Amino acid sequence: MRAQSPNETVVYTGISGVAASTSTTVSQAAIGGVLGDRGKLSEEAAQRGGPLVANNKEFMLLPMGKEGGHFSTMMQELLAADYPDITSETLPFVHEAIEKLKGAEAESELNVGTFGVDDRDHDYLYNFYEKWDRSYALQHAYLDYIDKIVKPLYGGEAILVQKTPNLRFNIPGSSAIGGKSDDPDGCIGLHCDSDPPQFHSCAETNYIVALTDMSGSSSLYVEKSSATVHLPFNEEYCENAVCPRSHCIAFAGSLLRHYNKENTTGKTRISLDFRCMPLAAYDPKSKYQLGKYYMIMGDQQSKL
Ligand SMILES: [Fe+2]
Repeated sequence: MRAQSPNETVVYTGISGVAASTSTTVSQAAIGGVLGDRGKLSEEAAQRGGPLVANNKEFMLLPMGKEGGHFSTMMQELLAADYPDITSETLPFVHEAIEKLKGAEAESELNVGTFGVDDRDHDYLYNFYEKWDRSYALQHAYLDYIDKIVKPLYGGEAILVQKTPNLRFNIPGSSAIGGKSDDPDGCIGLHCDSDPPQFHSCAETNYIVALTDMSGSSSLYVEKSSATVHLPFNEEYCENAVCPRSHCIAFAGSLLRHYNKENTTGKTRISLDFRCMPLAAYDPKSKYQLGKYYMIMGDQQSKL
């Protein structure tokens, strides 16, 4: 981390658990309205505790460790148990079981919803959250995974952890996020998480745990580097986020544009995603409140 002059933007090249450093700067004048209050966001981003960079990309695969393996296995078994003839191994074909269960109703679920409006409006998501709220074992496995595997990436600092992860079903013919009226051709739900109305902090890192293989149009597409976030959108700046089953991918979703395409793989992608950030970077005015959206993991005395 370093002091930053107000008329420049940092391109981050830090490594997990290491404070961010600077490799390149671009002038503030070159920055469009892509990310809103750029000065504030850069300040937040500088507190990321080290964005995750490998091979010149700001997203990367992370090890899951024993605890992550336990958590993802538990999740796969729990989800498979909801559907006849589906096992952990055959989860990518869960859409066939859903169609059998729901008949004609299933048709309406295969459409792409509207970003932030009805793209989370599915029975299988509600079922999951009911189970989540009731299960100490599931919540314990989640937090144990973050404590043992993710938190060390922040170099011992107290972090904020999203209390309840998001579950995504990306069924063939659909997408995991809804579309927007201004989406470029072929893209669904192009956004940064810091955009309105989400206003996520740029100090956050997004983590996605793949419960089935994620690749091609069943996965998301992510801007490769914050070096291009001030430029007009171009798919060439983006890369398909390939993540094998029971692995985790991390990326700076508040800084890097990301989107879906219609899933034409014939397989369902199921994944869990959550956000973490250093406690020290938390803005008490954030809409993502401590105790509701976030919980604290680690020594709280430094901030509270
Ligand atoms: Fe997002």
